[in-house]
Amino acid sequence: MNPSPIDSPHLPQEPERRSFLTRFGAICFGTVVTVFPFAAGWGVVTSPVRRGQDDSQSGGEDEGFVRICPLDAIPADGNPHAFVVIADVVDAWTRAVNQRIGEVFLTRSEKDGKPQVIAFTAACPHLGCAVEFAGPRDRYECPCHASAYAKDGTKLFGPSLRGLDQLDVVLKGDDGAQEVWVRFERFRAGIAAGEPIA
Ligand code: FES
Repeated sequence: MNPSPIDSPHLPQEPERRSFLTRFGAICFGTVVTVFPFAAGWGVVTSPVRRGQDDSQSGGEDEGFVRICPLDAIPADGNPHAFVVIADVVDAWTRAVNQRIGEVFLTRSEKDGKPQVIAFTAACPHLGCAVEFAGPRDRYECPCHASAYAKDGTKLFGPSLRGLDQLDVVLKGDDGAQEVWVRFERFRAGIAAGEPIA
């Protein structure tokens, strides 16, 4: 016997199916509304971490070396010459391009027919004032508390507890157009050891 319209198994299921679709849609919408802002926020929060990973994978800013100048910009007179250090400054959230981050003294010489460059940071190891090279006296002098240093960086006199802090140098490029790159670091002032500030 055929079921009467009232007994039909199909009639009660229609509202149930609509109710199910409504609930399913609400769940999907709720999931998107909840997860999307969280994912976006997570990307922002972790961006410094990811940037740090990227930097470490690529060697950071060329492994800490900063381009200072062409080799030919340093007079080959055996005297130290001051150069500013320009680099991008990156903190957790921002990158400031081409900022002055310090000053170095470069001295150019030749050894076995090859150019040599030595570099010292201009920051006085006593309390961080900028030293100057006093040509007539052939030494570095600090204007703040009168420490003095020889051309090779050793301390001559004054309150500083150590000599000038030397920096690593590499020459890059072809013989005809070499560039001077320096691993620029800051050092803790007022102590006897040259201790880089992390
Ligand atoms: S900061 Fe240079 S001698 Fe004091």
